[in-house]
Amino acid sequence: MSKPILVVGSLNMDLVVSVPRHPRPGETLLGGAFHTFPGGKGANQSVAAARLGAPVRMIGRVGTDKFGDTLLATLQADGVDTRFVQQDAQAASGVALITVSADGQNTIVVAAGANGRLSTADVQAAEDAFADAVVVVLQLEIPLPAVEAAARLGRKHGAAVVLNPAPAQPLSAELLALADYLVPNQSELELLSGEPDLERGIRALLERGLRNLVVTLGERGARWVSAAGSVEVPAFAVRAVDTVAAGDAFVGAFAAALAEGRPVQDALLRGNAAGALAVTRAGAQPSLPARVELDDFLRERGIKI
Ligand code: RIB
Repeated sequence: MSKPILVVGSLNMDLVVSVPRHPRPGETLLGGAFHTFPGGKGANQSVAAARLGAPVRMIGRVGTDKFGDTLLATLQADGVDTRFVQQDAQAASGVALITVSADGQNTIVVAAGANGRLSTADVQAAEDAFADAVVVVLQLEIPLPAVEAAARLGRKHGAAVVLNPAPAQPLSAELLALADYLVPNQSELELLSGEPDLERGIRALLERGLRNLVVTLGERGARWVSAAGSVEVPAFAVRAVDTVAAGDAFVGAFAAALAEGRPVQDALLRGNAAGALAVTRAGAQPSLPARVELDDFLRERGIKI
């Protein structure tokens, strides 16, 4: 039985074009099909955890426009509590311009819109949302002061704070110290540590006092490193058609597993499985697996759930 998860983060409408390859600067390229999908790292991670059975609530901001209405409606359809997502008449909803190439790789440019107006005061005014949350999940598509306020409130209320430092940017020592789990991918780890080498980057972050580092390694899987040791859980081999939101699938499933009281190694395994399933399908939220799919995927591979 899962306890509540709170996600504080972004909601975007994803405007996606498939391309034969990614364009070079100054180049106009003829793309293929165009789709809109609900996205945003915060909303994706909310949906990822909710589809796996966790009670999820979200703090965020969208515009009073059509995209905002749709983003709220799709979260609600997945059972996410949106009482703490405000509709802001002063800004448009966030959008992400995405290209997906034939090999499933993507480029993403985000116009933050209303996400960029989520303030420390908004987060503090929603303190009730923290009260019984056992996991607080954060990313970096909202202003850093709001992320820091949420991390502080998460710690104050005794939740495990999971910080996904995406998109990557330098972070204060204070924010790193507030995170119970920092979950970067390799390029985010490189930016945060200043070390291109994975092992040196991990060591550098641990030396800065991080308690738990979970590095997602793409096709290699994920590694959990803490002062007590290190565990690497290999990825599942699948044919990728669209890697958008694979990291969000991992983070949402990781958080859902923690909220069920599962050990970290199990959380990594379930994160890898959710990420693998997500890359086999197009779109951000449409690609995120349901509980039954994830459990079947693991069972089919002889893994006890
Ligand atoms: O992580 C994928 C997400 O990044 C997309 O859904 C897009 O909205 C951007 O936030």
